[in-house]
Amino acid sequence: MAGDEGQGVRVEDEDGIRILEIDRPPVNALGHGLRAALAAAVAAAAASPGVRALVIAAAGRSFPAGADIREFGRPPQPPLLTEVLCAIESFPRPVVAALHGTALGGGLELALAAHYRVALATTRLGFPEVTLGILPGAGGTQRTPRITGAAAALRLMRTGQPVGAAEAEALGLLDLVVPAPGPGESPTAAARRAGTAFARGILAEGLGPRPTRERREGFADPAAYAEAVRAARADPPPAHLPAAGRITDCVEAALLLPFEAGLALERAGSEDLVATEAAQGLRHAFLSERRAAHVPGIEGVAPRTLEVLGVVGGGLMGAGIAAALLSAGLGVVLLERDGEALDRGLARVAEIKERAVARGRLTEAARAAEWSRLIGTTDMEALAGVDLAIEAVFEDFDLKARVFRDLDRIMRPGAVIATNTSYLDVDALAAATGRPADILGLHFFSPAHVMRLLEVVVGRATAPAVAATGFALARRLGKVAVRAGVTDGFIGNRILATWRTAMDFLVEDGASPYAVDAALRDFGFSLGPYAVADLAGLEIAWARRQRLASARDPSHRTVAIADRLCERGWFGQKTGRGWYRHDQGRRGAEDPEVLALIAEERARKGILPRAVDPAEIVARALAAMVNEGARILAEGIALRPSDIDVVMVHGYGYPRWRGGPMRTADHGGLLALRRNLLAWAADEPELWTPAPLILDLVKNGRDFASLDAG
Ligand code: 3HC
Ligand code: NAI
Repeated sequence: MAGDEGQGVRVEDEDGIRILEIDRPPVNALGHGLRAALAAAVAAAAASPGVRALVIAAAGRSFPAGADIREFGRPPQPPLLTEVLCAIESFPRPVVAALHGTALGGGLELALAAHYRVALATTRLGFPEVTLGILPGAGGTQRTPRITGAAAALRLMRTGQPVGAAEAEALGLLDLVVPAPGPGESPTAAARRAGTAFARGILAEGLGPRPTRERREGFADPAAYAEAVRAARADPPPAHLPAAGRITDCVEAALLLPFEAGLALERAGSEDLVATEAAQGLRHAFLSERRAAHVPGIEGVAPRTLEVLGVVGGGLMGAGIAAALLSAGLGVVLLERDGEALDRGLARVAEIKERAVARGRLTEAARAAEWSRLIGTTDMEALAGVDLAIEAVFEDFDLKARVFRDLDRIMRPGAVIATNTSYLDVDALAAATGRPADILGLHFFSPAHVMRLLEVVVGRATAPAVAATGFALARRLGKVAVRAGVTDGFIGNRILATWRTAMDFLVEDGASPYAVDAALRDFGFSLGPYAVADLAGLEIAWARRQRLASARDPSHRTVAIADRLCERGWFGQKTGRGWYRHDQGRRGAEDPEVLALIAEERARKGILPRAVDPAEIVARALAAMVNEGARILAEGIALRPSDIDVVMVHGYGYPRWRGGPMRTADHGGLLALRRNLLAWAADEPELWTPAPLILDLVKNGRDFASLDAG
C-alpha cells in the first residue's frame, strides 16, 4: 500500500541472533510495503557477518494472516512474495519462524521458507487461498508436499481448512510447539522468546540452514503420492471453481519437476486464477463482510454488556435464536405464552442440540452445560433481569406492540429490547415503549442457529451504543452483521419481495415455480425462492400482503397464486404442503395440484402461458434484486452496495463466488441492466422502471463498487 514503504519490520539483535519482528496491524498482511521492508531486512542481515541466525516473528495478534487481499486484481508491485521467500530460504545462516495467532496463506508460506518453525500451541495454520478462488502462490504448493507428502498438502490446500499446532507438528510442518503463555506474557513475546531459544539451540548444536526446497520426506513413498493426486483428480470441484484443480496440478508437479519449474507452474496458476470471475467474486465477498462491520456513528462506541438474554416466543425462530445464544455461552430465558407452547419451544431447542451432538459438533458435557444456562418460563417477570430481550412472536403488529409494552414495563432501565420481525416498522414498535433509544431490530434468518446473517435494524431513535450492542452480539454469535434502516422488509426481505414479485409474474406468464427454482439453482443459489418460501413459512409474506392490500394501487398487477396456497392452509414445510409437497416422505416433491392451481389462476385472468427460458428467469431475478437494491441505497436503508451483497449471500443463498447481486450487475455492466429494465418497464412500469441511481451511475460511467468505499 502507498505510504508504507520500508515500514513494518522491527530489527533487534540478541547474542548474534537477529530478530525481525513484523508489525503491520491488524493481521500483518504481507502487502507490498511490508514485502519490501522484509526483503531489505533479510538482505541487510545476510550482509552482516555478526548475524549467526535469523528469527522471523510478528507483533500484535498474529503471524501474517496472508498476502494483502486488497492488492489482488491490481498490477503486482515488486518484490513479489515468492521472491522474498526465496531470499529467506537461501539465507546463509539458520532461519527460524516463530508463530502465534493465525499463520495463513502467504503467512504460512513465509514460515515454510524459513528453515525451522516454532509455534505456540494455540496457533492455527492453513491455506485458505482456495476460499478466495486462488492457490498458495508463494511456493506453498511446492514446499508443503516436500514435508508432508501429497495427501496432507492437498487436504490443507483444497479444503482451505486450518489445522491446530499439534496437527501441524504431526504433519512435520512445525519443529516445536510450546505452550501458550499465561496472563503475564503476551503471545507475541512468548512466540518470539520460543523462536530465539530455538535458534540458540540450533547454534549450540551446530546445525545449519535447512531449505525446505531440498527436503524430500514428503516424497518418500512416490506411489502413495501419486495415489493422493489421483484421488484428488477423481473428486473435481465444479467448473466455475478451478482453483482446487490447479492446486492438484501444482502438487503433482512438486514431485515431478525441479523446484524452480514447479514455482513457475504455481505462478502461472496464480495469475490465471486471480483474474477468474470466481476469485473476483470471492474476494469481493471477503472484503464486503469486513466492510459491513464498519458503521459510521458507532465505530468505537462501547456496546452494552450481554450475559443473559431473553427470547420471547419459542417457535421456529425463537428456538433457533435461543440455540445460537446458548452456543455462544450466553444465558437464555425463553418465554412462551402457555405451558404447552413452552414445552414445544424447549423441545425445538433440545432437538437442535440433539442434532449437534449426533453430528459430533457438540459433546454431551457441553450440551449439559448449555442446558443449565437455559430457563423456560411463561411468566414475563422472569425477564426482569435480562440484558437484552429478542421478541420472536407471530408477525402481528398489535401483538408485538403489546409484548414491547410489557417488556418495557418489566425490564430494567438500560436493558435492550429487540424485535426479530421480518417486515414490521421498528420505529412504530419503539414508539410503543418509553425507551425508544433502547430498541432495535435484530433480524435473524431461518434456521437462526445456522444462518450467518444478522440484519441490525437501526431505528430513528436507536442509540449508537444499542446499535453497537447488536453488532457485538453478532460477533459473539459468529454471525455477519449488516446495518439496515427501517423499511418494509429492511434490506433482504424488501429485495426478496420485489424479486419474488418478478418471479410470480413469470410463473403466471408461463414458467413453473419448479423451473424458476431450478434456473436459480443452476445459477448457483443453494435454494430457489419457492423452496425458500416453503422453508420460512408462507404465512409471513401472506400477512404482509394483507397488511399492504389497502394501500396498493389497483392498476398494479398482483399475482394471487401464493394467496390461494395460504387459503388452503399450505404454509410450506411446517404444514407439509406449500409450493412443494413435504408430506410424502420425499423432500420437496413437485406438486401437480399446485400446477393445476396456477393454471386456474392463468385461466381466470385470461393469460395464455408462454415459454420462459432459464436465461430469462435469471436475468429478471437479478434485475429485480439490483433495481430494488439501488432504491434501498438511495433511501439510505443500506449503507453501501457491498452490504446488500453480504445480505443476499448470507441470508438468501446467493452464490458467494459471484460476490452478490450488486457485484454481478457490475460484472455484467450497468448498461446492459439499464437496457433490460427499460424494455421490461414498457409492460410493467411499477416493477421495472429503472431506479434513478442506476441511470445516474450509467450516465457518469460509474459502477456500484465505486459507492462501496463510503
Ligand atoms: N489481507 C488484507 N486484510 C486482511 C487480511 C488479508 N489477508 N486478513 C484480514 N484482514 C483485515 C480485515 O479486512 C479486517 O480489516 P478491518 O479491521 O479494516 O475491517 C482485519 O484484518 C481483521 O480481520 P477480521 O475482522 O477477519 O478478524 P478476525 O479476528 O475475525 O479474523 C483472520 C482474523 C482469521 C486472520 C481473518 O481475517 C482471515 O481469515 N483473513 C484472511 C486470511 C486469508 O485468506 N489469507 C490468505 C490470503 S491469500 C494469500 O495469502 C495468497 C498467497 O498465497 C500469496
Ligand atoms: P412461529 O409461529 O414459528 O413462532 C411464534 C411463536 O411465538 C409461537 O411459538 C407462539 O406460541 C409464540 N407466541 C405468540 N404470542 C406470544 C406471546 N404473547 N408471548 C410469548 N410467546 C408468544 O413463527 P416464526 O416463524 O418463529 O416467526 C417469529 C417471528 O420471526 C415473526 O415476527 C417472523 O416474521 C420473524 N421471522 C421469521 C423468519 C422465518 O423464516 N420464519 C425469518 C426471520 C424472522
